[in-house]
Amino acid sequence: LRTVVQKGLLAGELPIVTTNPSWLEEQAKKKMNRAGFEYILGGAGESSTMDANRLAFRQWKIVPRVLKPTTPRDLSVTLFGHKYDVPVLMAPVGVNSLFHKDKEIGVAQACAALNVPFTMSTVAQTTIEDIAAAVPDSPKWFQLYWPSDEETTASLLKRAKDNGFTALVVTLDTWTLAWRPHDLDSANLPFLLGEGCANGFADPVVRRKFAEMSDGGTPEDNIVQASVYWIGEAFPGSSHSWGDIKILKKYWDGPIILKGILSVEDAELAAEHGVDGIIVSNHGGRQLDGAVATLDVLPEIVDAVGSRVTVMMDSGIRTGADIVKALALGAKAVLVGRPVVYGLGINGKEGAEAVLAGLLADLDLTMGFAGAKRVADLKRSLLRRVKYPG
Ligand code: FNR
Repeated sequence: LRTVVQKGLLAGELPIVTTNPSWLEEQAKKKMNRAGFEYILGGAGESSTMDANRLAFRQWKIVPRVLKPTTPRDLSVTLFGHKYDVPVLMAPVGVNSLFHKDKEIGVAQACAALNVPFTMSTVAQTTIEDIAAAVPDSPKWFQLYWPSDEETTASLLKRAKDNGFTALVVTLDTWTLAWRPHDLDSANLPFLLGEGCANGFADPVVRRKFAEMSDGGTPEDNIVQASVYWIGEAFPGSSHSWGDIKILKKYWDGPIILKGILSVEDAELAAEHGVDGIIVSNHGGRQLDGAVATLDVLPEIVDAVGSRVTVMMDSGIRTGADIVKALALGAKAVLVGRPVVYGLGINGKEGAEAVLAGLLADLDLTMGFAGAKRVADLKRSLLRRVKYPG
C-alpha cells in the first residue's frame, strides 16, 4: 500500500491500480496491439456471463465492524498443506507472447516478487523448464488442458512434477475453444498459429508424435502445422469422463484441482472421485456464454462439498472487496486473470507486478475496514445480499 501511495500520490506517477478496471482496459487498449488486447478482453458470445460475473459481486455488500483491532493483519491461507502468504493466485493464462515480450516469465517473476502462487498454463509460450529456472523457489501450480492421448498427458505431468510444480489444476470447461467474436473478428488466430507454443513444442512426446505424422519434421520446421497439431492435442473435444480421473491420479501424486465447476452435482462428483480441490470458474466468461456467474453458485457449492474438498473461485475478481466477498462466501482462495495480463500488456513484468501489488494492498485495507484481522474472520455474516433495480 505504501508503494502505491508513494508512487501515485507523492511522486505524481499514476500507479497501476485494479480498483478501476476500466482504466486498466483503456491503458491496455492504447499500449497493446489489437490482437493481444482483444484476446484478453474477449468474452464468449455477447459477453453476458462476463457481465454477470461483475454484477454478481455488486449484489453483495459488506457490513463493516468498527473498534476492532485488525493490525497486524494476516492474509495467509493454508491450501493442501502449504502455507501461502495471500489468498490470491495467478490464474492460468496462455499464449502470453501475444501480450508482451516478457511473456509468462514476466508474470511468474511478478508473482514471485509478491509470494503469489503462479499457475502456469499448458499453452504457455514459455516452457515448464524455463519457468522453473526463472522462479525456482516460488510457489508454482501447473494447469492441464487434458489431451486425449495418455502418453502426452503423462509427459506433461512428469515435466511439471520434475520441475517443482506442486499442484495440478485440470481445466474442464475448455475441451474446445468457444465462440469468441473478438477472436474471430481480429487477427489473433493467425498470429497465434505463427508464434507457436513453446511449452507444447518442447515436450518430447509431442515432438515425437509430430515427427511421426509429418515425415520426420520438427515443430520449428513448420510452426503453423505444428501449432494446429498442438492445439488439437490440448483441446481434444469432449473425450474424457469422470472415470478418467484415475488416469490423472496415475501420473500425479500431489493435489488435483478441477477448474470449471459450476454445478453442485459436479462438485459432488469431484468429491466422490477423490480430487483435492475445485475452482468454481466460468473461465472469465470466455467459454459458455450464458453460464451462471461464479459468485451466484459459490455458496451452494461450498455448503455441499466445502468440508470435503478445497473450494476456490475465479471469474470477475477486480478489487479487494471482491476478494473479501468471495472468501466470506466460503472460497478458500481466489484466482485472478485479466487484470494481471492487462498489466503485463501495459508494462511487462513491472505492470503485472503493479497490478498484483495494488490488488493485495486493496485487499489488506478492505479487510481492515471490514473488521477482519485474518482470513478466517471473513464469514458469511459479514455480507448482505441486496438487489438494486436495473
Ligand atoms: C484465460 N484462462 C485460461 N484458463 C486456463 O485454464 N488455461 C488457459 O490457458 C487460460 N488462458 C486464458 C487466457 C486469457 C487471455 C484469459 C483472460 C483467461 C482463464 C483464466 O484462468 C481464469 O479462469 C479467468 O481469467 C478468470 O476470470 P477473470 O479474472 O479474467 O475475470
